[in-house]
Amino acid sequence: MNKKSFWKFRKVIIAFIALTIALTFPSEKVFGQTSWTAPKSANNLKNPYKNDKASLQKGKTLYKQYCAICHGEKGKGDGMAGMSLKPRPANLTKEAFFKQTDGAVFWKLTEGKPPMAAYKTVLTKEQRWQLVSYIKSLRK
Ligand code: HEC
Repeated sequence: MNKKSFWKFRKVIIAFIALTIALTFPSEKVFGQTSWTAPKSANNLKNPYKNDKASLQKGKTLYKQYCAICHGEKGKGDGMAGMSLKPRPANLTKEAFFKQTDGAVFWKLTEGKPPMAAYKTVLTKEQRWQLVSYIKSLRK
């Protein structure tokens, strides 16, 4: 291709490169965050331990053991292991998080989404609900 026709096709080439980049890197890789939504059916799951003080306490212990390393001691998404992750671990003290149903949160920690693991087989149903209760209480 000679120099003249290169400039002629410059716009086409730039558009092609931009499109390739856009398709290769999903927005979460570029912006470091996603909107992870649970399926609607998850909203029907009811927390059997809601407002139960003892399970809240158990949830706290589990959180410190399994989750704080990424989500941070206070749930702000600032845990040591989460610093270099993309997307970054979610801030569990945010309004938008709190507004989700317990069922949606339960579904998320059951199914996981890389880099976050699925806790379906690691934690019992009861433990996952205890965690839901606890992390929903982190918003101050
Ligand atoms: C390896 C680091 C890591 C660990 C450990 C981890 N998470 Fe996550 N978590 C993430 C990341 C990263 C996201 C964001 C995923 C996304 O948005 O694509 C996330 C997202 C979430 C969300 C969704 C937040 C929202 O806004 O809807 C919940 C709920 C959650 N984590 C709970 C937990 C709980 C409970 C534990 C412990 C059992 C845990 N996580 C352990 C990395 C981690």
